[in-house]
Amino acid sequence: MKIAVTGATGQLGHLVIQALSQQTAPENIIALVRDTKKAQHFVEQGIDVRFFDYSQSESLRPALDGVDRLLLISGSEVGQRVPQHQAVIDAAVQASVPYIAYTSLLHADTNPLSLAAEHKATEALIQDSGLAYALLRNNWYIENYLGSLAHTVAEGKLYGAAETSKISAASRQDYAQAAANVLIKAPSGNPVYELAGSPAFTLAELASTIGQVYNTPVEYINLTATEYSQALVAAGLPQGLVNVIVDADIQATQGAMYSESNDLATLLGHETTSLQHLIEQQKTA
Ligand SMILES: NC(=O)c1ccc[n+]([C@@H]2O[C@H](COP(=O)([O-])OP(=O)(O)OC[C@H]3O[C@@H](n4cnc5c(N)ncnc54)[C@H](OP(=O)(O)O)[C@@H]3O)[C@@H](O)[C@H]2O)c1
Repeated sequence: MKIAVTGATGQLGHLVIQALSQQTAPENIIALVRDTKKAQHFVEQGIDVRFFDYSQSESLRPALDGVDRLLLISGSEVGQRVPQHQAVIDAAVQASVPYIAYTSLLHADTNPLSLAAEHKATEALIQDSGLAYALLRNNWYIENYLGSLAHTVAEGKLYGAAETSKISAASRQDYAQAAANVLIKAPSGNPVYELAGSPAFTLAELASTIGQVYNTPVEYINLTATEYSQALVAAGLPQGLVNVIVDADIQATQGAMYSESNDLATLLGHETTSLQHLIEQQKTA
């Protein structure tokens, strides 16, 4: 049983490979990567590393030889992802890969986030491909909110534009473990999993939890979309990323980040990782 993971050198991909390694032998795992130099540690673990660049379609079909289950981790080149994913799905069909899982977005078919369109289009390509599949509709990573933790703690202020909306984010590790569990079991019936963390939190609750872990007051400051966007640009973030972050907060106020689904905990077999635990982990890292 050969299980292949695209984007294996990425943050989620690494965690999926790690989770798979705990459930199957390394020779059953194939790391599909666009830069083999970044994957030498996989080679040392006995994992089969193959070159696989979504934009180089000739690299795709041969790399899928003998693959029984494929995890397509959505690409990071926003705007390019539909043709890139299409090329991967076409190659999977040509290589007769029996099962594909795809890391999509929570409620991809109805989600108002600007990022949702590419996920919705990819899901449709998979559904039309004739392959057996599982859709892993991941909500936001908690880590997205912890990128500037040291700065937040030093300033005692957490900025955002999500008002009092509830956010059911979960850790990358949980999404990765769930993906590995799906790849190992290959559940039939083309399941669609809405993957979200519990309990949901507001950004004010996030600020307060950071404050508790670091034993210092941290206040949530809600900004308008324009103010938040200007602040992120001033902090040096690229405009494209700023647009995604601000859009996420604004759409959160309409419920886009909230879910009552237990699918993630069910796939994991336990509760999702708590916000407090993740912040404590980052503090000691
Ligand atoms: N749910 C969320 O909150 C959230 C947040 C951010 C991203 N995402 C999505 O989830 C995906 C995985 O997240 P992540 O944190 O692991 O992101 P990441 O660390 O940026 O990993 C993205 C992976 O995609 C690979 N990749 C990008 N373009 C490629 C191409 N043309 N051909 C082959 N591989 C390509 C990258 O290769 P290299 O290692 O060579 O760079 C990397 O391994 C992202 O790509 C994005 O679609 C979700």
